[in-house]
Amino acid sequence: MTEYTVEFVGTGETIEVADTQTILNACLEAGIAQEYSCRVGMCLACSAEILEGDVTQPAARGLSDEEADDYALTCMARPQSDLKIVRGRYPPSLESPEEPTGAAPAADDD
Ligand code: FES
Repeated sequence: MTEYTVEFVGTGETIEVADTQTILNACLEAGIAQEYSCRVGMCLACSAEILEGDVTQPAARGLSDEEADDYALTCMARPQSDLKIVRGRYPPSLESPEEPTGAAPAADDD
């Protein structure tokens, strides 16, 4: 077992997380208020952006392969190196779609 340092950028929080432990479990043990819901890699509530480092998260089914390079589902992700991550950041596929073009004109009250 190897322990890695996980730094939460913007909060000043840093914890040690074993490579056998999920980041979310380490947060809960340390009293860090990491958001979560399903805890099975589907809802993305626990998402964090990876600024530096690597994780393994083969069961993170809510992420595409491309998204899994830049985002960690902390309920599934185990560190493979020291990490710098930003909690509460979500992959682009979860962001709101752009305003629809060609929206219907406002009704005329005449
Ligand atoms: S808590 Fe749902 S994906 Fe992590």
